[in-house]
Amino acid sequence: MNLEALLCTRLAAAFSAVAGGDVDPAVRRSQHADFQSGAALPLARQLGRPPREIAAEVVARADLAGVAVAEVSGPGFLNLTVADELLAELANTIAADPRLGLAATGKPETIVVDYSAPNVAKEMHVGHLRSTVIGDAAARLLEWQGHTVIRANHLGDWGTPFGMLIEHLVDLGDTGDGSLADLTAFYQAARVKFDADAEFKRRAQLRVVALQGGDPDTTRLWRRLLAASERHFLAVYDLLGVSLTAADFAGESSYHDQLESVVAELDDKGLLRVSDGALCAFPAGFTGRDGEPMPLIVRKSDGGFGYAATDLAALRHRVRTLGATRMLYLVGSPQRTHFQLVFAVAREAGWLPGGVSAEHVEFGSILGADGRMLRTRAGGTVKLAGLLDEAAQRASALAAAKTPDLDPAALARVGRLVGTGAIKYADLSADRRSDYVFDWDRMLALTGNTGPYLQYAYARICSIFRRAGTAAPGQVVLTEAPERALALELTAFAPMVSGVGGSLDFHRLTGYLYGLATAFSAFYEKCPVLTAPPAVRDSRLALCDLTARTLRQGLDLLGIATPDRL
Ligand code: ARG
Repeated sequence: MNLEALLCTRLAAAFSAVAGGDVDPAVRRSQHADFQSGAALPLARQLGRPPREIAAEVVARADLAGVAVAEVSGPGFLNLTVADELLAELANTIAADPRLGLAATGKPETIVVDYSAPNVAKEMHVGHLRSTVIGDAAARLLEWQGHTVIRANHLGDWGTPFGMLIEHLVDLGDTGDGSLADLTAFYQAARVKFDADAEFKRRAQLRVVALQGGDPDTTRLWRRLLAASERHFLAVYDLLGVSLTAADFAGESSYHDQLESVVAELDDKGLLRVSDGALCAFPAGFTGRDGEPMPLIVRKSDGGFGYAATDLAALRHRVRTLGATRMLYLVGSPQRTHFQLVFAVAREAGWLPGGVSAEHVEFGSILGADGRMLRTRAGGTVKLAGLLDEAAQRASALAAAKTPDLDPAALARVGRLVGTGAIKYADLSADRRSDYVFDWDRMLALTGNTGPYLQYAYARICSIFRRAGTAAPGQVVLTEAPERALALELTAFAPMVSGVGGSLDFHRLTGYLYGLATAFSAFYEKCPVLTAPPAVRDSRLALCDLTARTLRQGLDLLGIATPDRL
């Protein structure tokens, strides 16, 4: 049961009686009471009556017995204070539920989450962090809600760069895969030759043709490049604690043999026109700055297919073959127009029937202290593996200072989990639509809205239980204000998760978890647990236990680990 919804239902009847029509009581959490409704204010304007009078009438009519006490406050707000017994009962129900009050969805969907999507033969860099981290959180959270989630790693594993990469591999001779250990160096060497050597460039171009034509030797070399890259990606996912596996790779190449039929089907439906030699779709409602219709290039003038054609094929495949009813694309904001056009063309082609949604879950950039794209001091791209190693080292140093008795192995493990958690949390706690500044000191701080603070809050509760001896959680009984405040937070977890499943605004979930940890801190400061008389102690242990489980589950949905000790 959701308290906000319960209060809404009870107040809706009273408001509607006063208004003579449906009114949304707009019940929200509030700093002035447990919940507040401001609905009397607009209603008063509408009815031409004083708002406090309306609010008082609603209080008189509302059936809130055993649920809450309502009071008129200020210009006409309704302050609602939930009954202690109801709050305790709700906390007990949630505590008895392994799903913490979130029933599996009654409308399970098949959701494709397209995320991470690095490009083959390049090392993963900080530009892949947001898609990977936010996408993984989306996959985890939706799965936990009870949806069928298909992770789709749309690798850039096809196209013209492979000509030069394969030709470079041929030039190096059969040196095993040693030359591929450093992917960045490999790519750069190929690029340098491509730009400087006309003969190499010509060979590279022929290679592209051979690759597209399915030449066996070329395909074998391409597979080697792909395999080396996939090994590297999986190693980074492992470091990052991301749930993507080898089974989730569905690169651009996997749609290669569907591209002809994408063109044929669009053509059949009369959606294609030749423009500057290229086959383009011009979905209704899209015009460029010059007022001309905006094209989506489906087949280039040289006969090749591009990024857009592949995305159309992938979308059609996801709906028709995978049975997707919702598709999420975790890609940065610069690709907004691309996805708007792809979705519009797909809709015109009938590939996005009613009841199926496609959403570009966009996000901003990660900036350096100078307010520009994050780069190394030398101006290069920041590699993800290096960034994660640095995070682990910094976090180990912090943990060593805080807990000197941790042995080196535990220190290394904890450093990894805290460092990675700090990076992920910093990313997820920023509104995804905005850019944010990458700041080690801020993300690793042990106080404030950070990963380490929440992991520390969790570990602190674990330590209470290590000292609890035979004492165990009992029934929650609420008497002190900090107990109530904590219980109120605990009951808000399930509705919060449901909301984020729709909006994919993970900063709301991090904000919630931070609020929960803060409420726990206030509770723990004012309400002794282990030294309290047994009945009180066991109730408080139940609050501790439920807080720990909520923090753990919440952080797990975000892909952040919760070590027992820090
Ligand atoms: N590989 C692409 C890039 O690096 C991202 C792919 C995103 N997914 C998609 N279906 N287009 O920009």
